[in-house]
Amino acid sequence: MSRVLSATTARQAILGLALGVAASLYNANAGDLNAPAYRPYSRAAPIYERSPDRELYDRAVPPVDRQAEPRPDLIENNAPILSGRLVLLGQKLFYDGRLSRTGLTACATCHDPRYAFAQPTRVSQSDTGQLGPRNAPSLINAGALPVLMWDGRFRTLEQQATSPFLRGEMGIDIREAERRLNLDAEYLHLFQAALNSRPSASGMARALAAYQRTLISETSRFDRFISNNKAATLTALELDGLLLFERKAGCSVCHQFQSSAHYQTPGLRLFTDLGFHNLGIGYAAGRFADTGRYRVSGDESDLGAFRTPSLRNVAVTAPYMHDGSLATLEEVIDFYDAGGRPNPNLSPFIKPLFLNAYEKAALVAFLRTLTDQQYDPIRTPPRETPAVSYRPSVSRGHLSDFVR
Ligand code: HEC
Ligand code: HEC
Repeated sequence: MSRVLSATTARQAILGLALGVAASLYNANAGDLNAPAYRPYSRAAPIYERSPDRELYDRAVPPVDRQAEPRPDLIENNAPILSGRLVLLGQKLFYDGRLSRTGLTACATCHDPRYAFAQPTRVSQSDTGQLGPRNAPSLINAGALPVLMWDGRFRTLEQQATSPFLRGEMGIDIREAERRLNLDAEYLHLFQAALNSRPSASGMARALAAYQRTLISETSRFDRFISNNKAATLTALELDGLLLFERKAGCSVCHQFQSSAHYQTPGLRLFTDLGFHNLGIGYAAGRFADTGRYRVSGDESDLGAFRTPSLRNVAVTAPYMHDGSLATLEEVIDFYDAGGRPNPNLSPFIKPLFLNAYEKAALVAFLRTLTDQQYDPIRTPPRETPAVSYRPSVSRGHLSDFVR
């Protein structure tokens, strides 16, 4: 443990220096929203190339997923993947409870369109009844992120799509799902039409990924403000919130909203640096309940670090953080105001902010401008969607409501 601590201290000293330099650059840019992309601190993709431990990667990404990985040129140019039939097949799969043991769990159970494809419970319950350790993230814009999951263990939606079958989320393994689809005349037809093949794990992954790439949010009030640069688009309170977000509160150091070439869809402002940071969430009695990025990288400096989440539609994706431990945006702001939760690996960018009540309200008001107004959960899925057979999640409640 002492080796961990001293390595950490040295790292923090170096980061402290970097922070000083970053802070001066930061202030120079602070007033100008059109300043060139500011990337003070990011450990952006490619991530697996950096990982010293090939075995960890192999465990995280089973061979079947890697087969499904599309060619990079296809990721960059989504058009071929977004073929209509593939998207509709993916949508049908996404809402189909038959992909689970009980027949009651679909992807949409935990990624519920009514909550921007997140889930209003702290953590998710698998089809087999177990509570997982993590909160289900929103899938909106997930197609633009080259770093998926709270610990960043996947890089593409194709890699991710078969993982819910690994640890019991769906209660059956991927081969069983494949077998079921092959017994269904409608799926046989749909796979043939979309992929010219029989139902397969890799075909499922491609279809699910294609559907998820259609979930995009880019027309929030904030977007209208930033593209027209007209102050009147936001209220005075919201504008103050944006300035606080950029300056005094320093949120945009990690929740960067300059569009980035690292995103799969350049141009989207995603409010993440795609990096991993330790805020102290889940740290108690000298240990991390979830070691986070460390499990993937094996790097001690990643202990308790998690991917910076996008803040798109954040007003409708409560509760917050990887373990869903903060119930409201107000609680999130109070958490940052207090300087996070102290621990040996705390990010040097997290420190007490001394915000007053007005400033806290302004930050929350600003975060609420990030909800896509055109995004209408009632219209998603669209009318032509095949019969939906998923178990709707319980109303915005607490974990105790969810455990039967
Ligand atoms: C039992 C609940 C549950 C089910 C069912 C489920 N997921 Fe998830 N999903 C989660 C949780 C929890 C996470 C975060 C896990 C982590 O970070 O380790 C997640 C993460 C993801 C992510 C990464 C998003 C991001 O921002 O990084 C994608 C994509 C995803 N799920 C797609 C799917 C698809 C497709 C299905 C159906 C095949 C599915 N999920 C089924 C709970 C679920
Ligand atoms: C050091 C980088 C960093 C800074 C600075 C930062 N954040 Fe975060 N933010 C993160 C990380 C990492 C998480 C996820 C942490 C976890 O779950 O353990 C997160 C989570 C969040 C969440 C929860 C999102 C969700 O979907 O669960 C919100 C909201 C948020 N941050 C807003 C803010 C605001 C507002 C500020 C400024 C006061 C801020 N952040 C400053 C890195 C940062």
